[in-house]
This record gives sequence, structure tokens and C-alpha cells, in this order.
Amino acid sequence: MKGIILAGGRATRLRPLTKITSKQLLPVYNKPMIYYPIETLIRSGIKDILIIIAPEYAGHFLNLLGSGKEFGVRFTYEIQEEPRGLADAFIVGEHFIGNDNVTMILGDNIFDEDFSSIVQNFQGGGHVFAKEVHDPQRYGVIEFDKDNNVISIVEKPEQPQSNFAMVGLYILDNRASQFAKNVQPSARGEIEIPDVINQYLEKEELKVSTIKGIWEDAGTFDSLLRVNNYWAEKAKRNTEG
Ligand code: G1P
Repeated sequence: MKGIILAGGRATRLRPLTKITSKQLLPVYNKPMIYYPIETLIRSGIKDILIIIAPEYAGHFLNLLGSGKEFGVRFTYEIQEEPRGLADAFIVGEHFIGNDNVTMILGDNIFDEDFSSIVQNFQGGGHVFAKEVHDPQRYGVIEFDKDNNVISIVEKPEQPQSNFAMVGLYILDNRASQFAKNVQPSARGEIEIPDVINQYLEKEELKVSTIKGIWEDAGTFDSLLRVNNYWAEKAKRNTEG
């Protein structure tokens, strides 16, 4: 199993914070945001990680993260010249993925959850994760029945078909790159991740699990503040406990 962290994009929603740096380098309590997805992958047992970054601050990521030795893993880097959409990670990462399976995590998705047993036991197809939210229209929305059979996945629907967001961590077999190449750009001009995942669904090779722990997409001022507070509180509890 290989890992990909997608940390590209321009994060215009977070200006002026992102005028002089990348979103994924902003602080979340006591470390840069990208440490959290790195630790999520490492905690799940992944040791070979591709980090996809935008050209603007590529040097900052290299200075910060280096070869991965400090983390006990190996980092590889690719530049994404233009933010073409999340599904582009599988195209940029095609050679890196090779014949392996891949867990892709978004660089601004912050979890307090252990994915190790699902990652380690993954056999093929696709496995995605759902979390109940108050504002599903902000996300890819996933609908499933009581036996966790996936019914539909729609990117940012105006009329959400459920209250479950599909979170930004996807475990896929190596057809992901081929499936991403089949995808046509959406109205916002990007190739969207649900269009890749839906190809696994059509073949009845998709699983979903719900997330019990914390999850935030730290891409807005409010969610960024919430994750800062969450990890600050957790650190305090740990030192007191
Ligand atoms: C992206 C995905 C969406 C997913 C979300 C999770 O949205 O397109 O499907 O639910 O991340 O954070 P974006 O953050 O690009 O608006």
C-alpha cells in the first residue's frame, strides 16, 4: 500500500493567510497542517508517501519535510502545475502507484481516527469513509443503506441525498489512475473525486465505513479554528492525564 497526500491548490478561500504560504503549511496548534495527514498515513502503516504540491511553495515543503527519514518513511514529491481537481492526484501519481494499491488523503483533511486495520486488510476495489455533518452540500455526499451498501455519491449537491460527507481519504486499487483519466471536468473546471469513486461503485467494488473519530476539512477560517482548538484541548488533556 502506497500513500499520496494532495497538498496542491491555491486556497483562495483562506486569503490573506495563504497569500505568502500554502494552506497545508499553516499551523494547526503546534505543527504545520500537513503533519496531520502524514501522521494519519504513517499510523495506518504506510511507509512510501508521494506528496503532491503546487509550484509556488514547493521549496518550503522540501525544507520542512525532507526525505521522510525523520518520520521513518520515504517521501517523494511531484509538482501539480495547475489545480486540475482532486482526481488529478491519481494521474500525477500514476507512476508512483505502479502496480500497488493507494491511500490518498487530502492535505487539509484532519482526522483523529485509526485506519490501520482497513488499510492493512484492503484487498482491492475501493473503500471510502463517511461522516455525518450539518452542511453536506459543502462536500461530496454519500448515501448508503443500513448494510453499508453505497447507493450514490454526488459532489456538492444542492439537494443532498443524505447527511453524510464522503471524507478526504480514499483507499483504492491501482485502477484509480485509469479511472481518473476517464473523467470529464465538472462545471467548476475540475476532475472530481466522486467521478473516480463512482466507477468502482458501478462495478460493485466499493465499500464504505463510517468514521467514529474527529474529522475536519480545514479549508475555511472556522474549521481551521476548530481543529486548532481540538488539538490544543487534546494536548492539554494528555499532559493533565
Ligand atoms: C473536496 C472533495 C469532496 C470532499 C471534500 C472533503 O472538496 O471534492 O468530495 O468531500 O474535499 O474535504 P473541496 O475541499 O475541494 O471543496
